[in-house]
Amino acid sequence: MPIDRNELRRVMGHFATGVTVITTLSSDGKFYGLTANAFTSVSLDPPLLLISVDQKAESYPFFEESKVFTVNILADDQESLSRRFAVSGGPKFDGVAYRTGANGAPILEGTLGYIECKVAATYPGGDHTIYLGEIQEAATVDRKPLLFFRGGYRALGD
Ligand SMILES: Cc1cc2nc3c(=O)[nH]c(=O)nc-3n(C[C@H](O)[C@H](O)[C@H](O)COP(=O)(O)O)c2cc1C
Repeated sequence: MPIDRNELRRVMGHFATGVTVITTLSSDGKFYGLTANAFTSVSLDPPLLLISVDQKAESYPFFEESKVFTVNILADDQESLSRRFAVSGGPKFDGVAYRTGANGAPILEGTLGYIECKVAATYPGGDHTIYLGEIQEAATVDRKPLLFFRGGYRALGD
């Protein structure tokens, strides 16, 4: 018998993660982004990572359209940014500090790092699509991470 959807969400929530906002853009230059923790390092040589995006997300078609995305790793004082980008649609970037990266997608200010990618491959992942990103540029600063565990935001040491 397949596992119940809510039970699956509960069990998966026992794996503590960082929190990212993944940004991309449309062909007419409009910015999109969503909060995501389905993100992992894949390969050092070549440098690859993967993300998994819900096909129902408003941002979803633009990963395929632009073939680029940027993973912004949130700092411990950016819970409100995480909540903002976890709500579907709307003017998410209004009042948010960002600059445009080399790949054209927004790099959010105040994070503890970002990784700019070009889409190298896509794979079916049920109701999500898995994007393999070839890493183009990346940087970090010395800040503490925002964490997500059992459905709640946490900080190191909680
Ligand atoms: C902590 C957290 C992690 C999330 N991780 C993902 C994820 O990895 N992939 C995904 O597609 N949605 C994820 N979501 C849900 C999206 O952020 C949410 O569906 C968002 O509304 C999508 O925005 P959009 O429809 O404007 O693109 C996550 C939400 C939260 C709060």
